[in-house]
Amino acid sequence: MLETGLVSKAIDVEEIRKDFPILKRKVHDKRLVYLDNAATSQKPKQVIDTLIDYYSNYNSNIHRSVHQLAEEATQAFEAAREKTRAFINASKTDEVIFTQGTTEGLNFAASSLVSKYVKKTDSIVVTEMEHHSNFVPWQQAAKRAGAYFEIVSVDDEGFLDFSDLDNKLKGAKIFAFSESSNVLGSNLDAKELTKRAHENGALVVVDGAQSAPHMPVDVQNMDCDMFAFSSHKMLGPTGVGCLYGKRDLLASIPPFLYGGDMIKEVHRKETNWNDLPWKFEAGTSNIADVIGLGSAIDYLKRMGMSNIRRHETEICRAALEELAKFPDVEVYGPKVAENRSAAISFNVAKIHPHDVASILDEEGVAIRSGHHCAQVLMERLGVSATARASFYLYNGYDDLEALIEGLKKVRQVFQ
Ligand SMILES: Cc1ncc(COP(=O)(O)O)c(C=O)c1O
Repeated sequence: MLETGLVSKAIDVEEIRKDFPILKRKVHDKRLVYLDNAATSQKPKQVIDTLIDYYSNYNSNIHRSVHQLAEEATQAFEAAREKTRAFINASKTDEVIFTQGTTEGLNFAASSLVSKYVKKTDSIVVTEMEHHSNFVPWQQAAKRAGAYFEIVSVDDEGFLDFSDLDNKLKGAKIFAFSESSNVLGSNLDAKELTKRAHENGALVVVDGAQSAPHMPVDVQNMDCDMFAFSSHKMLGPTGVGCLYGKRDLLASIPPFLYGGDMIKEVHRKETNWNDLPWKFEAGTSNIADVIGLGSAIDYLKRMGMSNIRRHETEICRAALEELAKFPDVEVYGPKVAENRSAAISFNVAKIHPHDVASILDEEGVAIRSGHHCAQVLMERLGVSATARASFYLYNGYDDLEALIEGLKKVRQVFQ
């Protein structure tokens, strides 16, 4: 039994759990121990209530009609934009574009930036640990443009090889990387990487899918040109995300989607675009879920992103210590909790990660197994898949203990 129980110095897990209805349910007659937060997070009742309130009381389309419901919905939608701006410390609300999620944001960035700024024989740089959503859009955009597609190597802990990076940044037009790896958990110094890329004249696009939910983000301090993240990984609803872009850059690139709301005037031969950010929000937005994201941000702000980061670091440190006691468990990524997130990938010798995940599921412990949409990294690590346990603010030491007990069962079954 881990002595720490539910207690963390940074976060009151017991209090927080009361806000998450799903954590009261049982799975296979066991307490649900949800450790698949890197895939998606659970939702507090405050976010669920926001959605119910929207649909029960002021469901309406936005930016279009003058009636009361439309006015209320528009106000709540734009208030969520302001909350999102503050969450990442963007300087202006019109730099915040709502998308369907990180994937759409990165596709938008790849399509619009490459068509405007990348020519034949220029290069686009990514790293070998990118999620497919920050890899394939650039690979394909590079093919369309006739540009080189360069991949920076990572070391065993998930940090970049700087001599390789500096080489590949020479003459690069775009550098796209994730601030936090969804497989290795390594947290990169996005500010330093942005500076190096800018010194070489490259634009910087940061995949924040695994950083924004877990640590304070300040896009002005980072100085990146674009930053994408998803609501569903940070207590908010699915189907919504944000793409931040510096205003001058956004003003310079073409729209990604065409349709209603993104235009000023349409004539038979010509069309003018709406002002930022609406130029990039074609069609009816995911109104309820954007407002729900605003509510998730309120919740995270109340908890404090630095407290969440501290809490996860404490749990991560304990998890690394416990996992190290298994001689046949290989943990990937940084060995020091301060350098990483609490998304911990591992393999148990000779046992397929799907089997590990299935046996843990029988114990009520939900983890992810597979290639985590990072097949190039799997190739680099020399494995086809890993198991991954990922912790969030409602996870306590009791959840870690359930994981460890579950792993003991896994070994008994395969003895
Ligand atoms: C690092 C990283 N980038 C991008 C994505 C894609 O996010 P979404 O599926 O929400 O678009 C994920 C999702 O797991 C991720 O972990």
